[in-house]
Amino acid sequence: VEFATHPETFLQASNLGAEITKYRFTYPIYSFINAHQAFLDLTPDNALVLLTAPGLLEHNTGKPMEGWLWKADALKLYEMAYFAEGDVLELGTYAGLSTCIIAQAIVDSSRNSMVLPIDIADYGWKANADLNHVGQQIDFHLGPAIEQVQSLIAAGRKFGFTFVDHSHTYEEVAAICPMLDKVAKPGSFVQFHDYNDPRNGNEPNYGVWQAVMDTLPPTFQFCGVYGCSGLYRYTTADNL
Ligand SMILES: C[S@@+](CC[C@H](N)C(=O)[O-])C[C@H]1O[C@@H](n2cnc3c(N)ncnc32)[C@H](O)[C@@H]1O
Repeated sequence: VEFATHPETFLQASNLGAEITKYRFTYPIYSFINAHQAFLDLTPDNALVLLTAPGLLEHNTGKPMEGWLWKADALKLYEMAYFAEGDVLELGTYAGLSTCIIAQAIVDSSRNSMVLPIDIADYGWKANADLNHVGQQIDFHLGPAIEQVQSLIAAGRKFGFTFVDHSHTYEEVAAICPMLDKVAKPGSFVQFHDYNDPRNGNEPNYGVWQAVMDTLPPTFQFCGVYGCSGLYRYTTADNL
């Protein structure tokens, strides 16, 4: 597959958050995948996506789901989860907004895969997943991301896409980055949320961008910035 990359969207520390970068396709698709992805695009520009349940991605009369995804983040998440090979790993679940988008993309792709979300707390993701009829695709793990990812590595689990959204701190993200080549399938993508955020480097608990710069193995290649997300691909000699 010829992937589109957007190296021109790379940001230096001083430009973080200057703009919420627009969505562009990574896979060679030239229009939205389906009505569900197109629905996400109806979110006004520069507004956070607010999905409603029941009828995720279908109706706007249900119960709003809390979350912090920009439109471009949500569109990229859906695309990556839809085309991923196999299971998807998610660090940071909160109320399940991103989890439900990923799970819906897996259902829509007609493959028999799961999303494995990890969180240190349970903020009611299950009720939202059930309202959206995507609970059967979700295998939630309660616990700190570092320990949970270590267990997954020990169990030999590999994921076709990884969404990192559990912590804004340099330390937490820097602890995860060096482990990613052990859970990501070669050739798969990793999306870092809060990467393009002006608080990184300027507020005490924000260091996502710097942690990625310092600790992500060089086998991960920068693919682009979409919304506040940074996208990387795990490349090996076989899948360059
Ligand atoms: C920004 S929210 C996730 C939002 C969610 N991905 C979405 O888009 O709707 C971050 C979540 O990460 C969890 N969290 C924070 N530190 C963590 C850690 N060290 N390990 C696992 N989860 C963590 C928090 O409890 C919180 O629910």
